[in-house]
Order: sequence, then C-alpha cells, then structure tokens
Amino acid sequence: QNPDAAFRLGYHLMAPSGWINDPNGLVFYKEQYHVFYQHHPYDETWGPMHWGHAVSDDLVHWRHLPVALAPGDAFDQSGCFSGSAVDDDGVLTLIYTGHNVVNQETDELYQNQNIARSVDGVTFEKSEANPVIPAQPVGMQRDFRDPKVWKEDGSWKMVVGSTEAGKGQVLLYQSSDLENWEYQGILAKHNGGNEGYMWECPDFFKLDGKHVLLLSPQGIEPEGNRFHNLYQTGSLIGEMRDGEFVRGAFTELDYGHDFYAVQTFLDGKGRRIAIGWMDMWESPMPSQQEGWSGALTLPRELNLSPAGKLRMKPVEELQLLRVTEEQLKQNEISGTFLIDGQSNQLELEFDIDLTISAANIFGVNVCCSSDGSERSTIQINRSKGTITLDRSYSGIGVSGARTAPIEIGESLHVRLFIDRSSIEIFINEGETVMTSRIYPKESSTGIEFFTEEGTMKLRSAHLYQLKNSWL
Ligand code: FRU
Repeated sequence: QNPDAAFRLGYHLMAPSGWINDPNGLVFYKEQYHVFYQHHPYDETWGPMHWGHAVSDDLVHWRHLPVALAPGDAFDQSGCFSGSAVDDDGVLTLIYTGHNVVNQETDELYQNQNIARSVDGVTFEKSEANPVIPAQPVGMQRDFRDPKVWKEDGSWKMVVGSTEAGKGQVLLYQSSDLENWEYQGILAKHNGGNEGYMWECPDFFKLDGKHVLLLSPQGIEPEGNRFHNLYQTGSLIGEMRDGEFVRGAFTELDYGHDFYAVQTFLDGKGRRIAIGWMDMWESPMPSQQEGWSGALTLPRELNLSPAGKLRMKPVEELQLLRVTEEQLKQNEISGTFLIDGQSNQLELEFDIDLTISAANIFGVNVCCSSDGSERSTIQINRSKGTITLDRSYSGIGVSGARTAPIEIGESLHVRLFIDRSSIEIFINEGETVMTSRIYPKESSTGIEFFTEEGTMKLRSAHLYQLKNSWL
C-alpha cells in the first residue's frame, strides 16, 4: 500500500491496510485506551472478519497492535463479528459474535456469542467455554449478534442485536462470570414503524441520570438512506414495567452520510466516549483503489442536553493535534470571502452572531479547488433551522446532501474537522453532528465563507493545521 495515498487519513483510526468496519471492544484498560475494529487484513473489501487492534494513552496518538482475533475455530468458522470488551479484574476480556456459514448456496448460517481473554492486553486466547451463548432464544431468527457487555450492581449485563418477524429488537442477558449467561428478555423492540429489520450494535448505558439506548438499525427506508444510528433517552427506558421493558421514541444521532455502528465506553475520568464507523455499508469507498477502506470517527464525549438530547463533543485531547493557529481577521461577510486553508488536515472553528446577522442563508465551502469544480458545502438556513451538508461537488465517488435540524439562538458555534477524505461537523456543543466522507483532490484547500443576500457576522474564527497522530 502506498503511504502517500491521497485519501489516507492523518489523525483518524484506520487499519494499517485492508478493510475495516465497526469499532469493537472500546475499553480503558490499565490506563490505556484500546480500540478494536472489524477488519479484513488481506483485502480492501469485507471478508472473514478479524479484530484489528490499536492502543493510545490520550485518544489522539495511536499505535497499531497485532490482530487480536482471527476466525476459524469451530464456533467462529467464518468470522469474529462485532462485540465489546471489559476489564475483568485485570483480565482484558473480549465478547464477540461467532459467525458461522453452514452452506453459502442456501445461505444457511448461525451466530453465537464467545469470549477471549488477555492478561497483557496484546495477545488473546479464546475461552474453552466457547460458545458462551450457543444460540438465540428458542423461536427467534438467526440474526443474533454484537454483544455489548458492562457491569452493573455486581453482575455482568449484555445487550445483543436481534430480529423478530423482520423487525429489529434488543435482547438482554445477565452473568456472574462472563461464561454462564441467563436470558432476561427483550429489552426493546420495534413499534411497527420504520425502524429497521435488524438492530445491530446495540448499546445501553446511564448518562446524566437517564438511560440511553443506542443502536444501528439495518433497513430503514427510503432506499439509499438505509443505515442510521438511532437513540432514545429517558429515566425509565430499559426498566421492566408490567412484564415489559419501557422504550421511547428514536432520534438520529449523527446526520451525516457516513456514520454507523457506534459504540461507547467509560474512561478513567468517568467520561462516556463514543466512536463510530466513519462509513456505512452503502457508502462509496474510492479509497479501495489505494488498497484500503474504512476509518473510525474522532472520539466524542457524550452528554445529555437539558431537553434530553444526546450531544457528542470532540474529546478535549484533540486540541493536542493543533500545530498552528490562525485567527481570521474578517468578521463581517457579505457575498463570499475566500482563504487558503493550506491543507486538508485541519480544524475550523467559528462563532456566528445571530442577533445581528442579516442573511437567511449562509455558510462555508471547504476543500474548494481553485477552478471552482470542487467544494463541500455547509449551508445554514436560519428560517428553517437547518444545516445542510452538500457533497455534490466533493470529489470522486460521492454525492447527495443531508440536512439536520439546528437550534437558532443568539449565536451558532461551528466546529469542523477535515482530514483529507473526511469531514466532521459539530454544531453548538455537539447538539447536531454530521459525519461524512469526501474525496477531493489534495490541492483543493480553499475555504470560502458565503452569504446569500445579506451579511453574516463572525464573533470569532480560528483555523488550525492538524498533525498526523500515528506513532
Ligand atoms: C454492523 C455489522 C454487525 C456485524 C458486523 C460484521 O456494521 O453488520 O452487525 O457484527 O458488521 O462485520
């Protein structure tokens, strides 16, 4: 693989080469951050799933470790699918799905849950007790995967993704030793609406005194917009009432084109941190021409807004990436204002004064080519209360615009991270987040603020060049 490949990211988690999808086994273990991921080391397309592995002291600088899990045992013949990790009294324990294809032609397969342990955090041994959950509860369909395990009130709990009659659901299990699991029931299930046919990668945790249920539903309509991340929050969600677990309404977590299979974990500082796959199953992946595919998002700290909205904010350590800081002098924009971003590995942060801004539509084009043929547009529509990320001219392979709701108050805070082939937009402390892949030319480094009829007043604007973060 060519290390100068144009789309290779500078400060995001990627595999050394080959394919990656979901983040797996996020865990803070012996004072280090471990991230595993679905990985096909021998090809830039999906295949027999391994668990890739990287480690960090600060969530910013990463080091690759050897592949942690490879498929091929009797219980994970065709793949080590997604799962989670826990620190079990100093033993780093991975809990993952065994994927077993029985007959490719007839599409016969089964899935089960397994564990693997490590005392050094580098080499893992699959347990002799595998599979620790050999099959889904009697009568349920075969999709049974992505165990997320945590400790609560002295016992281990697990949520697993599942489906029933073509509609998604989440199952709950409990164990005292990570090997013997007891089925507790259906934690949440579809309510008949457009919520997907399979709920992948569930996560369930307490945040700011409320329950949060997070999942990646497969099969949301309309076609072409099928994979999302959904969440619901509430004080009773997941609690048993009259023999049924309570659920609420779902909201989308990230409104970009490329965000899926998010997982969270608690770190040593008590922060709940989320990392997602920065692609989706349907995404175009032009980097495959460079021999690799897939990356993970920047780590984001979660909190709940007073109204119960799940907010994602880039972790504060990401400031360590900044190598230069430039303050933009221009504070009133009418029409267009162009600067050279100098690279496509940068952070742009600005605050728009909405008490006096006159324009209804304004925003910024990033990764602009000098001939005007390339740009990625972030447009705010004040009267509609929306932000749109349009990648119709974002380079090769990608297209389409996504729109998300934003709060229109006295000001609007925008923080953008661009890393060659990715863009992550955080509005107002992470109340609205959009993550997308873009594939511009390396020379497309222009940044253009714009307004349509009227002015936009910037209270402040900063541009930071960001460094590579791989050790
Ligand atoms: C989600 C997913 C999981 C599965 C894994 C396989 O993207 O489909 O449900 O475990 O990817 O790679």
